[in-house]
Amino acid sequence: MENQKFADIVRFIRRQYPNVEGTIPLHAPCFVGPEKENLTECVDSTYVSYVGPFVKKFEEQIAEYTGARHAVAMVNGTAALFMILHAMGIGAGAAVITQALSFAATANAIAQTGATPFFVDVDQDTFGMSPVALDAFLHEQCAVTDDGVTHKATGLKVGAVMPMHTFGMPMRIKQTRSICEQWGLPLIEDAAESLGSFIDKQHTGTFGYAAALSFNGNKAVTTGGGGMVLTNDDELAQKIRHLSTTAKMPHPYEFFHDEVGYNLRLPNVNAALGCAQMDLINQMLADKRALHRAYVRFFSRYGMIMLCDRPGVESNMWLNAVQFEDRPERDAFLKYANDNGVQCRPVWTLLSKLPMYEHCPSDGLNISLWLEDTVVNIPSGARPENVLNAAR
Ligand SMILES: Cc1ncc(COP(=O)(O)O)c(C=O)c1O
Repeated sequence: MENQKFADIVRFIRRQYPNVEGTIPLHAPCFVGPEKENLTECVDSTYVSYVGPFVKKFEEQIAEYTGARHAVAMVNGTAALFMILHAMGIGAGAAVITQALSFAATANAIAQTGATPFFVDVDQDTFGMSPVALDAFLHEQCAVTDDGVTHKATGLKVGAVMPMHTFGMPMRIKQTRSICEQWGLPLIEDAAESLGSFIDKQHTGTFGYAAALSFNGNKAVTTGGGGMVLTNDDELAQKIRHLSTTAKMPHPYEFFHDEVGYNLRLPNVNAALGCAQMDLINQMLADKRALHRAYVRFFSRYGMIMLCDRPGVESNMWLNAVQFEDRPERDAFLKYANDNGVQCRPVWTLLSKLPMYEHCPSDGLNISLWLEDTVVNIPSGARPENVLNAAR
């Protein structure tokens, strides 16, 4: 019986990718725009490093698409998160409240500044930070002192709250923002996975003080490797541009750096890919959403829960997520699907269980633990043939 269900699922997924021979990847890049032309132009121009016209164009495209006043291109999403926190002055002695259900980069960016990640639970219908859990954590474990919001047990000062829009699904950012305002805490969005996701028509990553996007090879829009800082704050954008360009003072030929800088800007050659990808973002997202609708219809036959939009919310459907009964069923399906040429993967091991973060304060993480046991990501990449057709 179980194998019949697994066989049906795998057969259905395979049917969604009629042009793929061999293993169906979880999320392959979709290169059907002017990627090759842009790369050739970039090589011919010899501007392959971080100074170059594609970087500026890509930043403008992302700013326009998201509605953010500033978009600053970074070498990857982790660097974008790190630069935001570092530029805000977050470091040793500080803490950042985030979610345990996330990719390691979320906590790594915090730890790289010298700060400590704190983990709160997620909502079961968004997989993103639960505003209720955040509120409870602040009331139960923190206190307002002359120094700001302090964690009672460790004495660390809470420097920011950093939720994540998991698999592209917008979390409850407005409720979270209200709580942050009540406590006087800056809100940073880890929007690495959510380019193309909106709440009431407003793009994720524009609700707080700043946000980071990722353009890694597995993302909805890719530059090979890449990231972007979004912010409406002129000063922060300027500071991040400066710090991430080795803190070099502008001058046509002299070198003067006014503080310890970083070399974290996106190279022109990567931005060239990004510009081409942005030409077809609407077609790519439309196909990903069509695929999601087909999955929802299929999995409802088995009474299986999928991560879905709620009213007012539009996800980019970066990675479809479906829930199995329990860990044994999940594990059996993962083995079956991967053995049968359909790449599926479990959700991440909770960050609070990783050796470098297991000492970090958290709440009970009940929903996160349940999702960790039961959620599987299934192939979700846009089909190049559909994107091309839509573009014609
Ligand atoms: C939630 C989350 N945060 C941060 C990152 C870091 O992005 P990058 O891989 O571009 O460094 C990623 C993805 O890779 C991610 O999924």
